Amino acid sequence: MASQWIMVLSLLVMWVIPQGSLAADEDPLQDFCVKDTTQQIHVNGFPCKDAAQVQASDFVSTVVKNPGNTSNGLGVAVTAANALTFGGLNTLGVSLARIDFAKNGLNPPHVHPRATELLYLSQGTLVVGFVTSTPENKLFAQTITAGELFVFPRGLVHFQLSTGDGTALAFSSFNSQNQGTSQVAKALFTSSPPIDDAVLEKSLQLSAADVTRLRSLIKKT
Ligand SMILES: *[C@@H]1O[C@H](CO)[C@@H](O)[C@H](O)[C@H]1NC(C)=O
Repeated sequence: MASQWIMVLSLLVMWVIPQGSLAADEDPLQDFCVKDTTQQIHVNGFPCKDAAQVQASDFVSTVVKNPGNTSNGLGVAVTAANALTFGGLNTLGVSLARIDFAKNGLNPPHVHPRATELLYLSQGTLVVGFVTSTPENKLFAQTITAGELFVFPRGLVHFQLSTGDGTALAFSSFNSQNQGTSQVAKALFTSSPPIDDAVLEKSLQLSAADVTRLRSLIKKT
């Protein structure tokens, strides 16, 4: 009798545990669904191109072939190969980004609402880190060198700073066809329409002059 209950309980546990992990994009219901750019209908993802018109070239992308331009205030260029830029990824639940860093370049604190990020550092040295929600605001940071991986859990604020003598190059994979990126400083200070100054002053303990100054500085990055 007891063994039957254990059996029922373990079946329940086996059923419940996977429910918590359905966090990535939904599984595709066909082999592929190359993005159809000719239709203007709104769906979650993109409509599929007629399979008879799909070619091998739909599954090739040169998006991350060349270095991005890091001549900007942060010294970083993120080039994303996701369903927006590479139609073959539509519905497949994966994407990749190339991140070029100038010397001392910074990919500033940001979040990906729809994906965990697995970063592979190909060249250089990075200080990488993320801050958790539970425990509240605990920083996990680490210096990584070429050949190493670092994982940023989905939805958490994270950053990458190049600290080596020269440039750095990383490739990040995401378990979403469209990971989404929200840069913390830009979301707060450069939204359209702008967040009320009173909200920024109070939440960040800034003066009105500070807010004005930060709005214009952050807009330039
Ligand atoms: C890189 O960006 C800078 C600033 O926008 C621009 O002046 C420069 O021409 C760009 N370089 C290349 C190779 O596109």
